[in-house]
Amino acid sequence: MSGRIPREFIDELLVRVDIVDLIDSHVPLKKTGANYVARCPFHTEKTPSFTVSRSKQFFHCFGCGASGNAISFLMDFSHLDFVEAVEDLAVFAGIDVPRESVGYQVGPKKDDLNSLYVVMEQVAAFYIEQLRVSPKAVDYLKARGVKGKIARDFMLGYAPDKWGALAERFSQKLLIEAGLLVTKDDGQVYDRFRGRIMFPIRDKRARIIGFGGRVLDDSLPKYLNSPETSLFYKGKEVYGLYELLEKNSKPQRILIVEGYMDVIALAQFGIHYAVAALGTAASQAHLDLLFRFSSELVFCFDGDRAGREAAWRAMESAFSSLKAGRSCRIMLLPQSHDPDSLVREEGVDKFTERVQTAQALSDYFFEHVSEGLNLFEMEGRAQLISKAKPYLEKLPEGVFREMMFARLKELSGLVTLNVLDNVVTVDSSPKRQHQREHNRLSSARVAIALLLQNPRLADIVEQKDIDWSGLEFRGIELFKSILQVILDKKSVNTAVLIEYYRNTAEEKSIKALALLDLFVSDDKIEAVFGDALNGLLKQGREAGIAKLQAKAQSRGLDSQEQETLVRMLVNK
Ligand code: UTP
Ligand code: MN
Repeated sequence: MSGRIPREFIDELLVRVDIVDLIDSHVPLKKTGANYVARCPFHTEKTPSFTVSRSKQFFHCFGCGASGNAISFLMDFSHLDFVEAVEDLAVFAGIDVPRESVGYQVGPKKDDLNSLYVVMEQVAAFYIEQLRVSPKAVDYLKARGVKGKIARDFMLGYAPDKWGALAERFSQKLLIEAGLLVTKDDGQVYDRFRGRIMFPIRDKRARIIGFGGRVLDDSLPKYLNSPETSLFYKGKEVYGLYELLEKNSKPQRILIVEGYMDVIALAQFGIHYAVAALGTAASQAHLDLLFRFSSELVFCFDGDRAGREAAWRAMESAFSSLKAGRSCRIMLLPQSHDPDSLVREEGVDKFTERVQTAQALSDYFFEHVSEGLNLFEMEGRAQLISKAKPYLEKLPEGVFREMMFARLKELSGLVTLNVLDNVVTVDSSPKRQHQREHNRLSSARVAIALLLQNPRLADIVEQKDIDWSGLEFRGIELFKSILQVILDKKSVNTAVLIEYYRNTAEEKSIKALALLDLFVSDDKIEAVFGDALNGLLKQGREAGIAKLQAKAQSRGLDSQEQETLVRMLVNK
C-alpha cells in the first residue's frame, strides 16, 4: 500500500534537481545571458521564446504563456498527472519516492483500485468472447460497416441478454463497485448491460475505466454508460483518447465528436484523431485534457438547431481555456448527418477537407454575436459591444484576448474614435481594479517579487523584527504568507514556493511575480530589497494610520484600535 508523498520530499526534490538539466534532456537549450532558451515545446514557433532560469528554477514562454517549475514542466511535456510527474522527477534525480504510512485514506486504497482494474479487464475479455458467439451482435456490427480490425482495436464486445451473466463469473462486490451490477431495493443485483454492443472506455494508460453499451435495435435507451465510479469520472474522460494516442502521441489536431460510433467509423477510415465526450457536452476539464496533447481542437456538431446550440455552449467552455498557441474550430455538419454517416457517404478526402477548413472559433464567435445586428448603425454596433464583451472578458490574459478585443474594436468601427478604450477598459469589477492598481510597480510588488525570487532575503525581514499590526498595503497578506512559507521550510528556492501555491488563488500572481524582471544586479539585491521593504513599511504605516483616523471620525475606535493607532503614530 502506498500513501501520500511527503511534502518535504517534494521540496527537497525541487531543490536538488536543476530544471536546466531536466529540460535540456527533453528540449536542447541554448545559453543566452543569465537564461537558457529554446523553441517552445508547447506551441509552434520560429524564434525561441521559451526561457529557463537556473536561479529561479522556473520556465516561462513569452509566446504562449506556459510557465512553472520542474514538476509543471514534466506534467505538461510528458502529459503526466502530478504524482506521475513527481515520480519521474525522482527517477531523473536518482532517488526513491518515500511514501507516508497512512492509517486511513480518502477514497479506495490503491490495491482495491487495482483489483477493480483487473475485473474491468476480465469483463471486457468476457464481452469480446460473447461477441464471437453471438451472430446477432456480429451481424449488427457488419450491417453498420464495422470491420473486424477496428472492432479488435477498440475491444468491442457484446453483453449477452441475461440478467446474471457477470454475477455468475466475477466477484459481486467488485462488480458493484465497478458499476457493472445494479442493486435493487430488496438488495438483489442484476447485470447493468444486457443485449448491448459494448464499448470499453480506456484511460490514457490503457486501463479500462468504464463501458458504453448500445442496443441492437430501436429500443431505449439507445446508449447506456457506466455510472461514475472510483475509476470513472465522466467530466474528465473522453472516449477514444487511448486509441488516438496509440496512433500518434502528438496529433496536429483533435476532433471532438458526439458518439462512440463516430469515433470508430472515423478511425476505420484512417482518421485516428477523433474522440467523443461521454454523453455530455465537452467540459473545460475535457478541453484542458485534450490541449495537453494537441494545440488545435475541432468541435464537430450536427448542422441542426440542437447542434448549433451545442456549438455555442462548447464555445463558452472553450473560451476559458483559450490562450495564444491554442486554437479551436467549429465544424457544423450538413443536416441529418453525423461523422459516421458523412465519412461513409462522401469519403475520407472530403471529410478531411471539412476538418481543415472548419471555421475558427473567433470567426464563429463574431458571426454569432453580430447575427441580426445592423453594424451600419450606431445602435447595432453598441449592441455588438455589449453582447461580445462579457464573453471576451472570460478569456485568460494574453495575446489571444488582446486580438479578440482588437477585432471587436474593428468590427464596431470605433478604431478612430477611441470610444472602445473606455468601454472596454472601464470595468469596475473589483478583480480588474485590483489588477490595474497592481500593475503599477509599487514597493510592495518589488518587495514581494524579490523575496519570491531570492528566498534568502527572508533573513533581512526577520532581523527587522517588524510589527505587522495595523499596516495596510495591497499584497500584505501575500507578502506575509510567502515569508511564513520560507521560514517554515527546511529547504527552499523559487520552485518550492511556486509548488506551494499550486492550485491556489495566489498561483497566478505568484508566477507573474516570479517572472517579473526587475533588472537588479546580484550585488544590489539586498540593498534594493531593503529599500523596497522600508518604502513598503512606511506606506503601510501611513495607509494604516489614515484608515484608523478615518474610522475614528466616522464610527470611533475600540480600545485595541486606539492602541494600535497611538503606537503607529509614535513609531512613524
Ligand atoms: P446519437 O443519438 O447521436 O447516436 O448519440 P449516434 O452516436 O449517432 O449512435 P448511432 O449511430 O445511432 O449508434 C450520440 C452520443 O450520445 C450519447 C452516446 O455517447 C452517443 O454515442 N447517448 C446517446 C447516450 O449516452 N444515451 C443515449 O440514449 C443516446
Ligand atoms: Mn450515428
